[in-house]
Amino acid sequence: MINYFIRERVNRRVYQLSDALGRRISYLRVSVADSCNLRCVYCMPASGVRFTRHGEMMSPQEIGMIVGAAASIGTTAVRLTGGEPLTRTDIVEIAAEVSSVPGVTDVPISTNGIFLKGMAGQLHGAGVTRANVSVDSLKPERFSSITRGGDIHRVLEGMREAADAGIRPVKMNTVLMKGVNDDELAELTRFALENSYPLRFIEMMPLTSNVSFQPELFLPAMRAKAILEKDFRLSPSYSKNGYGPAVYYNVEGYDTPVGFITPLSGNFCDRCNRVRITSTGRLRMCLFGDSMVDLVSVIREGGGIGDVARLIRECIAFKPEKHHLDIGKTSSETLEAMSQIGG
Ligand code: 5AD
Ligand code: SF4
Repeated sequence: MINYFIRERVNRRVYQLSDALGRRISYLRVSVADSCNLRCVYCMPASGVRFTRHGEMMSPQEIGMIVGAAASIGTTAVRLTGGEPLTRTDIVEIAAEVSSVPGVTDVPISTNGIFLKGMAGQLHGAGVTRANVSVDSLKPERFSSITRGGDIHRVLEGMREAADAGIRPVKMNTVLMKGVNDDELAELTRFALENSYPLRFIEMMPLTSNVSFQPELFLPAMRAKAILEKDFRLSPSYSKNGYGPAVYYNVEGYDTPVGFITPLSGNFCDRCNRVRITSTGRLRMCLFGDSMVDLVSVIREGGGIGDVARLIRECIAFKPEKHHLDIGKTSSETLEAMSQIGG
């Protein structure tokens, strides 16, 4: 194992992983669980979706091997996502496995924040570097109705605990919804920036579960920006604020930026740097591309890290050029809820 890593470390310079369009793939998003303790309206139907049984999910060791394979060919950042990653009782073990892989220098987590309180210190100790938390409203009743039962107070306490434990930055994600939260964009921004939480406003993406109300609720990011400009002076930010597609702005009077993610109004697929692993160990080349390749079976059938790395390399050559999202149209045959792949 050690020899393998040393050899691949030397090779990495030669074999930096790029797809057929020359996009350098350095970022892996690993869904560690497709289940979630919430039911956000834009993510899944009220009845939920069929969750994977625990036995079908990857073990911490399998996750470690797949990440090891990806790292051996150039992955440096590995996000733990879901569903809700903190629904896994072994999440600290998973984080420790991932962060100990040579070459992995950044291990962020995406969470709804409900279970953060009480475990942020352990996560930080296991190597979690940063966190993204969904906060679509600061109003308790509204938050509970968007998430179908979530408690915003717990989320905010969890975020504070995470930042105090050294998980920095803690970013806030707000999905834009016309007539639902567009009257509190300034309030969300003020709260985020006063607490040094970079905030990203995200355009709602159409999925099977939200396609019926998508046209009614869709709010383009530039409309949100115009709303914010009534209260804040924004100027383009040129500093690096992560690996993602967000376009950031500095806000006069604050040190923390605000960003916009525009999957519909401004396609950013030409800058895509990522691939995804589902909780059942399948490589998914694009959030909205339906083709998946089973990696975990390679391990379960006795294959090693090198075999998985070879398969990842072959698949990435076929990464789709872009998605074709359209307001009010179902975007993917296999993606019923965002929880199934982790946004
Ligand atoms: N459109 C945009 N963002 C979504 N998320 C979940 N579903 C959608 C959707 N349909 C976001 C969550 C979370 C992140 C992981 O993905 O709000 O912040
Ligand atoms: Fe759960 Fe996140 Fe989906 Fe909300 S958006 S239901 S928190 S997976």
